[in-house]
Amino acid sequence: MVTPTSLDETRVVDVWHTTIDDLHARGADALARALGLLHPSERQRYARFRHDADREMFLIGRVLARSVVARALGVGPGDWPWREGPRGRPDIDRDDAPLSFNLAHSAGLVVCAVSRLGPVGVDVEHRLRVPLDRALVPRCCAPDEAADVDAQGADWCDRFLQYWTLKESYLKAVGLGISVHLPDVRFRLCPAPTAAFTGTFAGADAGWTFELRPVAPAHYVAVAASTPDGVRPVVHHAPFPDEWWP
Ligand SMILES: CC(C)(COP(=O)(O)OP(=O)(O)OC[C@H]1O[C@@H](n2cnc3c(N)ncnc32)[C@H](O)[C@@H]1OP(=O)(O)O)[C@@H](O)C(=O)NCCC(=O)NCCS
Repeated sequence: MVTPTSLDETRVVDVWHTTIDDLHARGADALARALGLLHPSERQRYARFRHDADREMFLIGRVLARSVVARALGVGPGDWPWREGPRGRPDIDRDDAPLSFNLAHSAGLVVCAVSRLGPVGVDVEHRLRVPLDRALVPRCCAPDEAADVDAQGADWCDRFLQYWTLKESYLKAVGLGISVHLPDVRFRLCPAPTAAFTGTFAGADAGWTFELRPVAPAHYVAVAASTPDGVRPVVHHAPFPDEWWP
């Protein structure tokens, strides 16, 4: 049982996660309550998804973000303004917003990261995602990252996904998304992930903490948190608490 008290702590980045199975287990009433949180434009988007899993992960993401941010702000889940940046990054639509959040979903798992330290980004990838095209490696990885991926032999996909998930977490934290030159954000994985910014990213702010970890059932979750004072935060992962569902 998780005690969700860490939102009050300033040196903690919280990452809440839940699954489509959790939504299904809650039954039709819970689904209706979750749908009640959506604004009209979100309902239209919800209705447009072709695949049930995508539709449900979208809904769960809204439930997580609405609930977690609301608790931190001390308001109701539907009572804080949501905006999206030019490339789609969701944020709290308040100039003095005291926290940043980000969402990700993959193969049934949905995560929401929240930080009071500065911008935060999160990505999740299913580790058994196949088939991966090997041509992605030189397109997305810097030469030293690609050499590390190649050195893993038959396990190259898993190592590639580690780099990919970290890169995406950073690019989501800064709101850019992945339409950029990915090899320019270059990671070292050990002992803890660190990034170097080159080429189109030369001169980017270096004050970031990164974390990568496996999360059940078979996913990698990466978190990128801006840490202006250089002090590494604790990244706290926990299941989205039952009592926080609408
Ligand atoms: C952001 C992006 C990397 C997400 O990729 P993905 O692997 O399909 O999805 P993830 O599960 O990791 O994340 C999706 C969530 O990230 C958030 N998100 C969307 N765009 C984002 C951005 N630019 N930055 C940060 N977060 C973003 C949303 O909450 C989204 O979930 P939702 O649509 O259910 O609300 C990808 O959509 C992208 O590159 N977008 C940018 C597109 C762009 O450049 N548009 C320019 C138009 S001019």
